[in-house]
Amino acid sequence: MIFSLKKKRDPPKALVVAKEKGKKEEPEVIYAFEIPYTGREVHITHKEVFGGKDLLRFEGIGFSNVLKRFDDGTLRYIVNEWSVDKKEENLISLILSDIMRFQEYYYDDLVAGNLDKVIDRIVRTHGIEIEFKFNKDKIMYYVGRDTTGFGLIHPLIYDPHITDIDVKGTDFIRVKIREFAGRWIDTNVGFPNEIASRQFILRVASLYGRGISEATPMVSFVYRNLKKKIRFRAAASLGGIKSDQTTVQVRKFPVKPFLFNDLIKFGTLSPEAAAAIWLLIDLKGKIAFSGPVGTGKTTLLNAALAMFDPRKKLVTIEDIEELALDFKRNSWVPYYARGGEFYEIVKFALRITPDLLILAEVLGRELGDVIASQTGHGLAFTIHANTVEEFQMRVRTLLRMYYGENASEELINLVMRNLWGIVFMNIKEDRRVLEQMHMVDPRSGEFLKVYEYPVDFDLNAFLSQVSSRTSKSIEELGREFLDRVKFIEDHMDYELEDLYPALVKWYNNR
Ligand SMILES: Nc1ncnc2c1ncn2[C@@H]1O[C@H](COP(=O)(O)OP(=O)(O)OP(=O)(O)O)[C@@H](O)[C@H]1O
Ligand SMILES: [Mg+2]
Repeated sequence: MIFSLKKKRDPPKALVVAKEKGKKEEPEVIYAFEIPYTGREVHITHKEVFGGKDLLRFEGIGFSNVLKRFDDGTLRYIVNEWSVDKKEENLISLILSDIMRFQEYYYDDLVAGNLDKVIDRIVRTHGIEIEFKFNKDKIMYYVGRDTTGFGLIHPLIYDPHITDIDVKGTDFIRVKIREFAGRWIDTNVGFPNEIASRQFILRVASLYGRGISEATPMVSFVYRNLKKKIRFRAAASLGGIKSDQTTVQVRKFPVKPFLFNDLIKFGTLSPEAAAAIWLLIDLKGKIAFSGPVGTGKTTLLNAALAMFDPRKKLVTIEDIEELALDFKRNSWVPYYARGGEFYEIVKFALRITPDLLILAEVLGRELGDVIASQTGHGLAFTIHANTVEEFQMRVRTLLRMYYGENASEELINLVMRNLWGIVFMNIKEDRRVLEQMHMVDPRSGEFLKVYEYPVDFDLNAFLSQVSSRTSKSIEELGREFLDRVKFIEDHMDYELEDLYPALVKWYNNR
């Protein structure tokens, strides 16, 4: 039986046992859940299931998820799936084992999303049409979850509050919730054993990604299903690299990418800061989006790119497809390294004369080349550095690594001075925010802070730095800046599809 959170339903087994033994108080430990045909019993306390205050709830088909907060401040994320009785459990097992046995036969239909056709055929073969009819919803849910769906993490994938999912061996799976950005939160679900978690990865990777095996024990892929409104990047390993545990990391993205207006509503940045970033990319500046893991660097970059002049050529290079722009944007040329040689693609991309070149995630030697190159293209990249000092150190180390003795102070200084500015993303009070913005003085290479959360943006300092990079006066740039602030404020409710034509018009009328 699957444990149910709703008090109206049958009490969980352990509770019944305790009562029968004549205990008055509720037992400390109960079965949090027990999944059919895996038989795992996970123990979490009674208090953790029934106690605490509900902070968020997400109702999906077949499950309901609740985020709870307890008196001591602990958060726990509880997944509550449809409960099934023995008969239903047997039906589900029967259908699932048939699908597993004749996998090759059903493969095409499964990949094409015709699960109902497959189930229909099995049900007819076994002559269980009537039983199936009465339990259809539940059976469809569990069979779907464990064939074309995402198994145990299925209810987590579909909850739009969740941004990250972390699986490590048989531990409780952990999640991050958008509203509580800083922390990992334990759930009540976990794989019953290593074999189950490996089977899960093998199945999902073969359906949606590329193969994974003992020989190539790592895989990463992006999954997109616009109809079901899910988009995520998954990185899985079968263990054997550094640990012998199976691991899966899932980074979810909103199906419709966040725009400046969303980020402004979230309190991540002000319209002025957004306009400043927009102005920099339009002027073909070279800017870095920096900060710790998962703080929203790629998201902010994506929002800025959505504003880029559609008449100009935008070239993006990433390992896998995370950036999402309007498909009508013809001038966008995306490249994906997919684990291959990033540097080679960068060299190639420089030859096809981009107006703006984007490197999502700078890891190696390409950094010096692109910042130092004088081919007149704009540049934006994301990098993991928490402070200006860390960033400078990173660049220095990279240059030394690839240029050895040739990485003179002069070269390092040239690279720094070529950079126009850097923004730092971070997490403050559970929220992803633009924490700092620095401009680099083109003569001295010094970093000048023009913004620090939550203080107001120093517009004059910003404009005078930008002016020293271009032939434009501070007044002219000030007007361009205000035009952009106005556009952003006038389009606060726009989504990507409507924003794009509005933007085309705006650029054409200038
Ligand atoms: N400003 C924001 N407000 C709310 N959620 C956000 C914000 N920015 C990003 N997110 C969400 O947080 C998650 C991480 O965002 P993103 O991938 O942009 O981070 P990142 O800094 O690029 O991470 P990494 O270091 O792994 O590259 C995503 O699910 C994204 O949708
Ligand atoms: Mg990123």
